[in-house]
Amino acid sequence: MEKEDAVLIGETGLQRKSDVIVIGAGAAGMMAAIRAGKRGRSVVVLDHARAPGEKIRISGGGRCNFTNIHAGPKNFLSANPHFCKSALARFTPADFIAMVDRHGIAWHEKTLGQLFCDDSAKDIIRMLLEEMRAAGAMLHLGAEISSVERTEAGFRVSTGEGVYEASSLIIATGGKSIPKMGATGFAYRLAEQFGLPVLETRPGLVPLTLDPGLLEAVAPLAGIAAPAEIRHGKTAFREALLFTHRGLSGPAILQISSFWREGDEIVVAIEPDIDIAAHLKTAKQRNGRQSPQTALGDILPKRLAQFLAEREKISGNMADLPDKALLRLAASAQNFALKPSGSEGYRTAEVTLGGIDTAALDSRSMEAKAVPGLYFIGECVDVTGWLGGYNFQWAWASGFAAGECV
Ligand code: FDA
Repeated sequence: MEKEDAVLIGETGLQRKSDVIVIGAGAAGMMAAIRAGKRGRSVVVLDHARAPGEKIRISGGGRCNFTNIHAGPKNFLSANPHFCKSALARFTPADFIAMVDRHGIAWHEKTLGQLFCDDSAKDIIRMLLEEMRAAGAMLHLGAEISSVERTEAGFRVSTGEGVYEASSLIIATGGKSIPKMGATGFAYRLAEQFGLPVLETRPGLVPLTLDPGLLEAVAPLAGIAAPAEIRHGKTAFREALLFTHRGLSGPAILQISSFWREGDEIVVAIEPDIDIAAHLKTAKQRNGRQSPQTALGDILPKRLAQFLAEREKISGNMADLPDKALLRLAASAQNFALKPSGSEGYRTAEVTLGGIDTAALDSRSMEAKAVPGLYFIGECVDVTGWLGGYNFQWAWASGFAAGECV
């Protein structure tokens, strides 16, 4: 972005008094500023970072999975699964796509309704900044917030560079994930300052780690990916599984990680669309001199087939093996229960689960019921999407909802 943009955008110079202050120039904060500005409200956006939308920039491998055409309440985790309904209904994936199209940004559907930019995530940031400029919203970066107080007229926000006042204050500072990129627990602390309940937070959409024994065994598989179904209780996701040097990753694991709790078991089924037991039995009939490892290697990556055969101690000619042994080998690939030792934590988590208790917020406006004029939007609220563009859709929708009401 241009240097002058990095400090301030807007037509009227630095503005200390406005109708609305938004803290956080991420996905949710920028959308709220755009909507409020378009409604004629004067808006100042404050962020301590040197550039807006840093998570947008790195999202989706640099191409930003900006929404999911199938996004609906069922794709979100929250203590109150109904809370997200109103906002999601009033700003839909189609609404965001229309904005993207207006700006001539080319996009494509990758898989499972996930929409990505053809070129760069920076196109989305540029679009949001252009929309903010058109809406007359001011952006002040590098703003370290030292305090937030309630005044008779609204709120006073003190920063290293000065004091800002507004009748409405929108908190859009995200969650705790990726602290290296400036994530802070600001929203949670502020909620507590105003007496609002905050639910326990934990990393979500995060790789899972294995205990040293199991990790040593699977270490040779690092880098291997395979289609899989990962189950946790009644929840299951079918996407890719990736073995890593620390444990398990890939979309299927990231998805299930948001449901998993320390001490829980997950069940891994590799190549869930193939009946591996039937394949092994047929291979035995067709070529009894083949090893089970070779037969398994027809459908699984060879190193993985070798690992499973060695783990189950099944070798020799298939003709000499009872079907029971082949069933055991198939089960080790398709019904493998294990207990991850933990997760990689906020360092790599894409999102933060939990957060501001939705019971304290109005689902139409995101306003704190007990503190008129104070709004919480985006990831800091206890609404967390699945992997696949859902989290940005929540950021856009909750931001729009607040921007519509301030
Ligand atoms: P967000 O974190 O975007 O913005 C918060 C802003 O507040 C930041 O600009 C920050 O600097 C500022 N801030 C924080 N503390 C502050 C303080 N104390 N004072 C002032 N400012 C402060 N989702 C998706 O739907 N599709 C995808 O492709 C991806 N990809 C992805 C990749 C990676 C690596 C990560 C980490 C995450 C994703 N996500 C994603 C998730 C998505 O990035 C996330 O859900 C949204 O960015 C949340 O938007 P918010 O605006 O709520 O917070």
